[in-house]
Amino acid sequence: MFIDTHCHLADPKLADTDAVVEEYLKAGVDTVMTMGCCAQTSEVGFEQSKKYPSVYFASGVHPSDSAGYNNQEKDRVIKIATDKKCVAIGEIGLDYYWKPYDKDTQIKVFIDQIEIANELKLPICVHMRDATQDTLQVLTEHKPMYGGVLHCFSGSVETAKIVLDKGFYISFAGTLTFKNANKALEVGKFVPTDRCLTETDSPFLAPTPYRGTVNSPKNVPIICDFLAKLKGIELTEFAKTVKNNAQTLFPKLKNV
Ligand code: NI
Repeated sequence: MFIDTHCHLADPKLADTDAVVEEYLKAGVDTVMTMGCCAQTSEVGFEQSKKYPSVYFASGVHPSDSAGYNNQEKDRVIKIATDKKCVAIGEIGLDYYWKPYDKDTQIKVFIDQIEIANELKLPICVHMRDATQDTLQVLTEHKPMYGGVLHCFSGSVETAKIVLDKGFYISFAGTLTFKNANKALEVGKFVPTDRCLTETDSPFLAPTPYRGTVNSPKNVPIICDFLAKLKGIELTEFAKTVKNNAQTLFPKLKNV
């Protein structure tokens, strides 16, 4: 009944994919979206989606990999994005946290992939870290026509309001459960239930009490439960709403 809308099954830390899938199915997670960080990891997601009925994928180049973006890489991203289980272009965006970074290249690659999403009629999964202003500017000047989600949202309530007004969804990860998460808690309470998504961003950001360990989609019920309690909603009902939200934003989730 649970959905993980953002994870990295291509990561070597989750290399025993059979075991990872078995564990999350056992934990009640029936739908998982694995992200591309470059053409190669997007292609791994494509292969995994063929092997596992519960796995869907996004195709795209992460801002921290934008230096490797060229016509060949772009063609590979596009080629698999037309697949029936490719639900989005992602993850794409801007990251000024990991240094060194090249702002101009990141912005160019981000815009180019928004255009791909628009041409293919797909939503986008957005990574925004220490780059709020530039990200909002790109999203305003190059509007994703089929919507999108701000994943692992770390912004303020004010920023959340702006992206909600633009029609975006906001996705919550294990960071919400961390001890110092005051800002995230405020955002969690603020975002309307019908615009919330849940994710693990695994293998990163394992939620409390597993912080510091290898994260996996099996932990998404912990995040969903935490957010449901924060909002004072019964877990089953909230999980159902989150699944509906995901199916609204990512119509291909319903197509298979
Ligand atoms: Ni990610």
